[in-house]
Amino acid sequence: MSGQKIGIVGSGLIGRAWAMLFAAAGYRVELYDLVASQVDAALVEIRSELHRLAAKGTLRGQRSAEEQSALISGCGQLEQLVAGAMHIQECVPEQLALKRTLYGQLDVLLEPHTVVASSTSTFMPSLYTAELKQRAQMLVAHPLNPPYYIPLVELVPAPWTDQPVVERTRQLMLTLGQRPVVLKREVQGFATNRIQYAILNEVWRLVGGGVLSVADADRVLSEGLGLRYALMGALETAHLNAPDGIADYVARFGGEIAAVSASYGPTPDMRGEWETLTQIARQCDELVPLTALPQRRAAREEFLTRLSTLKRQLP
Ligand code: NAI
Repeated sequence: MSGQKIGIVGSGLIGRAWAMLFAAAGYRVELYDLVASQVDAALVEIRSELHRLAAKGTLRGQRSAEEQSALISGCGQLEQLVAGAMHIQECVPEQLALKRTLYGQLDVLLEPHTVVASSTSTFMPSLYTAELKQRAQMLVAHPLNPPYYIPLVELVPAPWTDQPVVERTRQLMLTLGQRPVVLKREVQGFATNRIQYAILNEVWRLVGGGVLSVADADRVLSEGLGLRYALMGALETAHLNAPDGIADYVARFGGEIAAVSASYGPTPDMRGEWETLTQIARQCDELVPLTALPQRRAAREEFLTRLSTLKRQLP
């Protein structure tokens, strides 16, 4: 598939990251944006980022920074972007009306072999493709930020997405070195946010209930569970944690899991819990003052870079 054309709609944070991932794998990438100056800015920023990564030794792919940069160009018209593209990655802001308008435009331009994948974090594909003629060629391919260092991509089909379209997108993601997971059907929050929110809810309840400080609640993940989960998931962890695997684990611990789970209490609506929010915000600010957020984000990126390098060395 390398050498084929990829179109990216929206050249903000995520559109730029996808452009770099596709170019690293040798695809020809065209970037389109409603705001033409965004494309110019993206091309300049991507080029300097590729050189920065090369200097640090963390550039992906076999080509040099300059070769990868040369694979990425700007495009002034949506029609031009779609023409001859095997895959369109949509990266416009998270507003349903905006996505609906854009998909309506794409619907009349699409060639039969072109797949359109949305980077959306929240909208199920049926919300904006239901009325379209070419809806069988559309699905969600949701990355995690920063996609250059986090390989997971959630593929979410609408009820009418063709199965071969899902499989072709899965194969495409693999050629980038990303690690796709396929949801068999669309579900609100996809998989990542459903699991992430379950954790966030319980951490909220533990801190709000006075059981743990913010720092200690976060340590449970960063110094405990997260170390396991950087390597393997919750189910494989359980499978390994009983002498005879997962069925044995459930036989041994199922009663305790059910009892603890029954004690969680109602799902919090964080917007209305002012006391807990004030408390958590104060402690978060002690942990990382608002003025230090940019440095802490940079440290996270550095950490993720090293972790992804280390993970690639593991069997
Ligand atoms: P952004 O605001 O950085 O970039 C969006 C770009 O789209 C802007 O350059 C804007 O000018 C352009 N745009 C707006 N309307 C357009 C149109 N009709 N046609 C072409 N271009 C248009 O947004 P960001 O953060 O890159 O998000 C894009 C998508 O990726 C969203 O759906 C978001 O949910 C998803 N996403 C974002 C993540 C994040 O951490 N920011 C993580 C994973 C997914």
